[in-house]
Amino acid sequence: MEQYIIKGGNPLVGEVEIGGAKNAALGILAAAIMTDETVLIDNMPDVNDTNVMLEAIAGIGATVQRVDRHTVKINGSTIRDLNIEYDYIKKIRASYYLLGALLGKYRRAEVALPGGCNIGSRPIDQHLKGFRALGADVDIERGKIVAEADHLRGTHLYFDVVTVGATINVMMAAAMADGVTIMENVAKEPHVVDVANFLNSMGANIRGAGTDVIRIRGVRSLHKTEYSIIPDQIEAGTFMFAAAVTRGDVTVKNVIPKHLDATISKLIDIGCEIQESDDAVRVVANKRLHCTHVKTLPYPGYPTDMQPQIGVALALAKGTSTITESIFENRFKYLDELARMGANIKIEGNSATIEGVKKFSGARISALDLRAGAALCIAGLATDGITIIDDIKYIQRGYERFEEKLQSLGGVIERVASEKEIQKFRLKVS
Ligand code: UD1
Repeated sequence: MEQYIIKGGNPLVGEVEIGGAKNAALGILAAAIMTDETVLIDNMPDVNDTNVMLEAIAGIGATVQRVDRHTVKINGSTIRDLNIEYDYIKKIRASYYLLGALLGKYRRAEVALPGGCNIGSRPIDQHLKGFRALGADVDIERGKIVAEADHLRGTHLYFDVVTVGATINVMMAAAMADGVTIMENVAKEPHVVDVANFLNSMGANIRGAGTDVIRIRGVRSLHKTEYSIIPDQIEAGTFMFAAAVTRGDVTVKNVIPKHLDATISKLIDIGCEIQESDDAVRVVANKRLHCTHVKTLPYPGYPTDMQPQIGVALALAKGTSTITESIFENRFKYLDELARMGANIKIEGNSATIEGVKKFSGARISALDLRAGAALCIAGLATDGITIIDDIKYIQRGYERFEEKLQSLGGVIERVASEKEIQKFRLKVS
């Protein structure tokens, strides 16, 4: 099993190119099967999650042609199966986007029921509520969601909670329903807007994405398009915090700075200097960080996917900080790993109180989940000793060439697969 081994202590310095947004890509790849014409998608991140989604699409018969590492052509005219197996759902929950896409296009879909995951129980009631409101019969049978409709009809729908997944899933089905759908209390995340823009480029009629209310006039068919996915705000934010935590100077390139507002605001709060240009943000940290208070919220609030990264920064900051996690109930597990590196943390319910320490000490820790894993790598990069991170498969789900990008900034990190390689690394850095 592969691990990362890290010798920290170097400030990260330089420029790093940010890839396409994984979470936008997952919605867009599902939506791409909604036309029988060929769709070309560019700036697609080459990460495990998007590759599993491509396998799921190919698995039901769609034609998937990889043009190059970041470009793919998809043709949904060859689909012969409307059933997404548990194997895919088990690997990526977001394969449930094929429910909305297939239901919209074929009026029927069967998708294995996703379970919980390492960050929480993650119900899907709002997705089902939306499909039912559009007139679909939705049943749970033998671990599967079976959705079927003679006609999908436009509807007026109010989501009980703000959810990215249900907003995207129901938006896809409604894009091909008869009549107008109004969805209120929707998620406003940049990737919701990107999926809406993609569908519109295929001939859908979706207005208001990025606000609280989305209005969709259903169309009978969608057509071919060429589309480039937005940059990944979470990948960018991760490298920005890597700069902060290692007292470095990093410019993230190919980003949309507006999408990073909440992250930038917190970096300024903890004492970083920020320089923004049209498509880049530079983060300079030349002194010890200071404490702050942060609460995760739906966009444009501070993202839950950036919570572990700021947690690492606050664990090293001067003073007492608090983090309140208001989206997922189980997203503090990484703090126990940080405590094993010397962090001083008390967790009560969905709040963590962090007393900053001057430095961490190296330890063997587990990645736990995608964002926690990336954050713990950053912690390792800020530690003089050697840190070994297990279960890096989680990190590979959403970060492309993660260790290479960190190496290009001066980070001493390697992917290893045996005790021999670990010993070799230790000798090299000692
Ligand atoms: C998406 C992102 C994930 C991010 C999260 C919040 C993708 C592929 N994943 O996840 O990286 O952390 O948004 O920004 O884009 N909820 C319900 N009922 C539902 C659906 C959700 O109660 O039917 C709750 C969830 O338990 C959670 C909250 O709503 O507490 C937000 O979840 P949601 O926005 O749906 O997250 P995902 O789409 O799963």
